[in-house]
Amino acid sequence: MASPVVDKAYLKEIDKARRDLRALISSRNCAPIMLRLAWHDAGTYDVKTKTGGPNGSIRNEEEYAHGSNNGLKKAVDFCEEVKSRHPKITYADLYQLAGVVAVEVTGGPTIDFSPGRKDSKISPKEGRLPDAKRGAPHLRDIFYRMGLSDKDIVALSGAHTLGRAHPERSGFDGPWTQEPLKFDNSYFVELLKGESEGLLKLPSDTALLDDPEFRNFVELYAKDEEEFFKDFAGSHKKLSELGFTSS
Ligand code: HEM
Repeated sequence: MASPVVDKAYLKEIDKARRDLRALISSRNCAPIMLRLAWHDAGTYDVKTKTGGPNGSIRNEEEYAHGSNNGLKKAVDFCEEVKSRHPKITYADLYQLAGVVAVEVTGGPTIDFSPGRKDSKISPKEGRLPDAKRGAPHLRDIFYRMGLSDKDIVALSGAHTLGRAHPERSGFDGPWTQEPLKFDNSYFVELLKGESEGLLKLPSDTALLDDPEFRNFVELYAKDEEEFFKDFAGSHKKLSELGFTSS
């Protein structure tokens, strides 16, 4: 599909959609799942073949039916409400805008957003997203395939400051932090504290403690929220623009 023309009218629609997303996310309390939708649309990117990435393909049943996307149809449907009011905006832009707004309305950093992503109907094969049961080498395989770095892996994992796992979706259960609707650095603080009654740590979360390179960033972000916000904003922008160059 062709790239959208990012003219004044398109930017105006983006602005209106941003407002609609703010309202929708606060009224449904759905920031975590909107952020997860943006990540799962983008996180399929393969830098070598230039396939996957933030292209709206997660709206295809073939892709949202992947096991790793369990539960995300709900977020696809929420976005459809906004798409119907702003049909000009591509799904690819809309999902990434939803991710940016989700971080913003829960108190996280402002993430710079550039519109103009193309939609694709082609979905990648299942298996490009990380497996929560695996450790550091697997995380590197997956994120390096996207063209991202060790710092990006740790900063982006901090998104688990929002939301929770659901047994019927992933087989895991519970939130990572005491306030799962607040975007702050508590994911890293809790990770360093170790086991806490009622809080979740995935094997892919504790992998960040075992690997010395990753651990340096965990310690930095736990003690310096400003550093975390700065790095998250940079890494999330990279994630949201994999394979996309705005003109
Ligand atoms: C939730 C795995 C990275 C954002 C989850 C869940 C799993 C998971 C198993 C629970 C899903 C459920 O049961 O509903 C992983 C793994 C990662 C990773 C293995 C590798 C590092 C990320 C990244 C982001 C992210 C990079 C965003 C930038 C979220 C959010 C939720 C979530 C916001 C909560 C969703 C909700 O409350 O419905 N993740 N994730 N995750 N993930 Fe990740």
